[in-house]
Amino acid sequence: MHTVKAIYPGSFDPVTNGHLDLIARGSKLFDHLVVAILQNASKSPLFTEVERFNMLTEGVRQFGNVSVATFDGLLVDFARQQQAHAVLRGIRAISDYEYEFQMALMNRRLAPEVETIFLVPDAKYSFVSSRLVKQVFELGGSVEGLVPPFVIERMKARSKA
Ligand code: PNS
Repeated sequence: MHTVKAIYPGSFDPVTNGHLDLIARGSKLFDHLVVAILQNASKSPLFTEVERFNMLTEGVRQFGNVSVATFDGLLVDFARQQQAHAVLRGIRAISDYEYEFQMALMNRRLAPEVETIFLVPDAKYSFVSSRLVKQVFELGGSVEGLVPPFVIERMKARSKA
C-alpha cells in the first residue's frame, strides 16, 4: 500500500493556532505528517528547541498520525532522510507567496522528487504570526485565541523568569 508522508517545517517560536489549524488540515490529507522544527534558526528564538518541541508535542497529541521532530541543515536533506514525499507550507496572504514560491522552487531544484504543497489556514488566523504574538504579549496585549492556552502559560512563565 502506498502511503504519503509529508513534512511541515518551521521555526514554531512559538506554535500558534494558525499552525495547528494547518496541521489539522494536513493530518486529514496525508497518512503521516512530521512537524519539523528548525533547530538553528538564525533569528534568536524566544523558546529553546526543547521548549518548542514540548509545546508542539502537546499541540499535536490529538492527532494520531502527526509526530514532531527537529532538524538542522537543509530541509530537503531531512525530507529525504525521512523518506517524505512532500513539504507542507501555509499561505496566509499574498504577502507570504513570494518567499514561499522561492523556497518551493529552490527545494525542487535540490530535490525534484519532493513536492511542496500549500494549504490555506482558516481566515480567522490569516493575520496571526509567531512574531506578532511575541510582540503583542511582550507589550502586555492579549494573545488569547491566537495561541493554545499552554503556550500562554509558558510565555507568562518566561516573562516572570
Ligand atoms: O516558519 P519559518 O521560519 O518561515 O520556516 C522557514 C523554514 C524552516 C521552512 C526554512 O527556513 C527552511 O527550510 N530552513 C532550512 C534550511 C534550508 O533548507 N534552506 C533552503 C530553503 S530554500
